[in-house]
Amino acid sequence: MAQARNILTSLPQDAHLSVSTSPTTTFHSPPSSFGGARRPVPKQLKPFNTQDIKILLLENVNQSGKDILTKQGYQVEALKSSLPEDQLIEKIRDVHVIGIRSKTKLNQKVLSEAKNLLVIGCFCIGTNQVDLEYAAQHGIAVFNSPFANSRSVAELVIAEIITLARQLGDRSNEMHKGTWNKVSHKCWEIRGKTLGIIGYGHIGSQLSVLAEAMGMSVIYYDVVSLMALGTSRQVPTLDSLLREADFVTLHVPELPETKNMISAAQLAQMKDGSYLINASRGTVVDIPALINAMRSGKIAGAALDVYPAEPRANGDYFNNSLNSWEEELRSLNNIILTPHIGGSTEEAQRAIGIEVGDALVRYINQGITLGSVNMPEINLRSLTLEEPDYARIIYVHQNVPGVLRKVNEILGNHNVDKQISDSRGNLAYLMADVSDVRTSDLKEIYDSLEALSSRVLTRVLY
Ligand SMILES: NC(=O)c1ccc[n+]([C@@H]2O[C@H](COP(=O)([O-])OP(=O)(O)OC[C@H]3O[C@@H](n4cnc5c(N)ncnc54)[C@H](O)[C@@H]3O)[C@@H](O)[C@H]2O)c1
Repeated sequence: MAQARNILTSLPQDAHLSVSTSPTTTFHSPPSSFGGARRPVPKQLKPFNTQDIKILLLENVNQSGKDILTKQGYQVEALKSSLPEDQLIEKIRDVHVIGIRSKTKLNQKVLSEAKNLLVIGCFCIGTNQVDLEYAAQHGIAVFNSPFANSRSVAELVIAEIITLARQLGDRSNEMHKGTWNKVSHKCWEIRGKTLGIIGYGHIGSQLSVLAEAMGMSVIYYDVVSLMALGTSRQVPTLDSLLREADFVTLHVPELPETKNMISAAQLAQMKDGSYLINASRGTVVDIPALINAMRSGKIAGAALDVYPAEPRANGDYFNNSLNSWEEELRSLNNIILTPHIGGSTEEAQRAIGIEVGDALVRYINQGITLGSVNMPEINLRSLTLEEPDYARIIYVHQNVPGVLRKVNEILGNHNVDKQISDSRGNLAYLMADVSDVRTSDLKEIYDSLEALSSRVLTRVLY
């Protein structure tokens, strides 16, 4: 079936409302020999044959993600690299799902050719390579995996704290040049030192636990009041954190309020000989101010994983043509410079593959948008195999007055068991489970919803 987006267009008039199964249908059902109470088996909502769903995965998406999609029976084509725009356009015309990482640009020009596209999986953290607004307005959901690499970043920061405290980067560089330089001056244990975490979210809070296990005292500053883990302590202001911490580490999002949140004035408040770590976003630290603070000895060491401008590919690009101060930065002592690798581990890639793979399957099979970055987040309890003549109606529509009244007029002739709707900007997403429906009812519901002027996308799953 070519048009999974408009599934009823190809439904035979006399089709029976049977459940099309996939290898995972029985996965959660225990063998009958287990005895005990029988749990309802979630029903796979697929009015299409799974092998009709065409998926294109680019940029060497992790095997964990590929496995989840192929186990569903979908047709999966996986390529190791991204594609030039003309080839991407050629391929995207045909697929229902595309999985990308950061290099593939899904802009308006490309997406406008993607007539069958239902959903985009960004097997990475960022989504700025996708025109999210255009996708939403055309009923294409976008999913990513924002937190699967939190642990990897927290572990990197622990490594950096010790590396800076012991000047390991410099010693290693010296040894690589043949210089033996055994020193203990201004080299410290981290036990008993204070770590100041700015932004106590997924990464900051993981780090808090790890740092305490290393014998550090942890304080944190966040714009919201958050429960302290272990014996860590929230401080009321950024200033108080900067005055108290031996190591300051940033874990805030990139926002107008966080731009240059560490600049000359904040560096001046930090303890003499303290350390700064930034593995959040490059715009959060005013790097020329940091260079001055390190030159004066105020800051004894720094680790930067992120930069205001970053190269788009690997190669010899970390020079002044990207950011005017890069060569000065490289000339400093006790500074660790890494190429945005905080989240780059095999474990994180595998976790991303699983998280995005699962989100795609949930969306394709059941219309669930939990975790979507461009659609309202909607979920309903799964239908089970004990509910044979049910259907799930999904109606993505413009968020304009009067739509729900019209939709409910259409659904109102049927037994709507549960219904949920939410909006995000000018887009709204409605999901309704209707019971005792015949194929002819579904066709009628589908055609009526499609005829509304507010319609962006109608899906009927059963
Ligand atoms: N280096 C890497 O490879 C890498 C990998 C993953 C994430 N990151 C970045 O790390 C940062 C943190 O990620 P996360 O997953 O922990 O995010 P998160 O959303 O879980 O946590 C961010 C925290 O910062 C707080 N915050 C927001 N504005 C603040 C402000 N002005 N002052 C103080 N606190 C503020 C929020 O309340 C929240 O608790 C993000 O910028 C993310 O992009 C980098």
